[in-house]
Amino acid sequence: MENNLTMEKLVSHCKATGFVYPGSDIYDGLANTWDYGPIGVELKNNIKRAWWKRFVQENENSFGVDAAILMNPKVWEASGHVASFSDPKMDCKSCKTRHRADNLIEAHSKGAVKPDLMTNEEMEKYIAEHHVCCPRCGNFNWTPIRQFNLMFETSRGTIGDDQSKIYLRPETAQGEFVNFLNVQRTTRAKVPFGIAQIGKAFRNEITPGNFIFRTIEFEQMEHQQFCRADQSEEYYKTYKQKAWNFLLDLGFAEDHLKFKDHDKLAHYAAAACDINYLFPIGWSELNGIHNRTNYDLSRHQEFSGKSMQYTDPITNEKYIPSVVEYSIGCDRLLLATLCEAYAEEQLENETRIVMHFHPAIAPYKVAVLPLQKNLSEKAKEVYNSLRKHFMCTYDEAGSIGKRYRRQDQIGTPFCVTIDFDSLEDNCVTIRDRDTMKQERIKIEDIAKFVSPKLEF
Ligand code: GAP
Repeated sequence: MENNLTMEKLVSHCKATGFVYPGSDIYDGLANTWDYGPIGVELKNNIKRAWWKRFVQENENSFGVDAAILMNPKVWEASGHVASFSDPKMDCKSCKTRHRADNLIEAHSKGAVKPDLMTNEEMEKYIAEHHVCCPRCGNFNWTPIRQFNLMFETSRGTIGDDQSKIYLRPETAQGEFVNFLNVQRTTRAKVPFGIAQIGKAFRNEITPGNFIFRTIEFEQMEHQQFCRADQSEEYYKTYKQKAWNFLLDLGFAEDHLKFKDHDKLAHYAAAACDINYLFPIGWSELNGIHNRTNYDLSRHQEFSGKSMQYTDPITNEKYIPSVVEYSIGCDRLLLATLCEAYAEEQLENETRIVMHFHPAIAPYKVAVLPLQKNLSEKAKEVYNSLRKHFMCTYDEAGSIGKRYRRQDQIGTPFCVTIDFDSLEDNCVTIRDRDTMKQERIKIEDIAKFVSPKLEF
């Protein structure tokens, strides 16, 4: 990265400022789990709000749902997750750690070999021929590859037999597919239309998570566009563009993003690509766009025995719609947002760390800072009135310079300073995070000044 950001530096910045803490911290953590702190949860909520605005509120003919995390297990048979949502795993018999064979090959070949295109036998052969050793202990002492299903199982009721086995959903998409006809009927929507959802998904990931890049519990923001088969190619292009524009509008630099077509398409997919972002760990997937044909609805029709057909009200034609899916991990987007926003800037006598978030997603919009403690009554008055409009913070501890730095570090776009003149003229100084320029405005105009800058 141009800002020399490493994942280690970001993790410690996030912990120190309250964006993200290690999960179960006082118990030495639980691998690949993280907790969002006071400003992390604000950032996350703002990202979700911006996504929802773009892909539901402003998106033609799109509707939201919030489906249950626990679904009838047949859903996961129909979707193919029970049979094939698995990774090729090998255990190191020396140090008893588990690894993904495809990741071992990718790391060993420095990305030159594409394990996606290999069978398990071919991967085992590659690992043997190239003597790929355990990255943990350095020994070459592998079990054969076994497919390891990523779905978390749980059971309902008290009996832990197969009858009661249910799964924590590994993606939100199925909640949108199974509600296709419910939404269509209740909204009286005509195909083409879209269903969107934001919610938790769970995957039993055993590989190193790289902070919140890969976690076992995460949130997805997914949009399914239901359309006629002959419209799906066009929608695929449209959603590629919409996904790209969303990132640019959030402030991502174009040269930190690139499209990557999938090397290997799922048997039902007509087209699939990712948008990759230049994370500190290198180019990695940020989101996916898939033309899934009518596979999902057809499978649910087959497994549920319920018709998933849509009847065109004009032509009376009956058909199972195709789906173009756009899926992005909220936590992964938050990570990319942190990486993109982070900057270390050399000032005259110091280096300032600043998060250049788009103001719409910044955790706090305004920090209210009395120049001295004995101005706190007036400052609290201003703070309390501004809190009615947007998230604000208040800080009266330390020098004003230190307090500006604290707000820069968490990306607060505006700092409002109350000084002794404020008591006389009812004006404050408002400082812009990015330019560090200050101007004097009336207290009654602060909200009017700030609000338009928060639009997304
Ligand atoms: N419904 C399609 C689907 O789930 P996916 O590529 O498996 O496709 C979509 O996941 C997005 O969800 C990814 O692009 C990524 O942003 C996010 N994601 C997937 N697994 C994740 C994990 N273990 N931790 C955090 N985010 C994850």
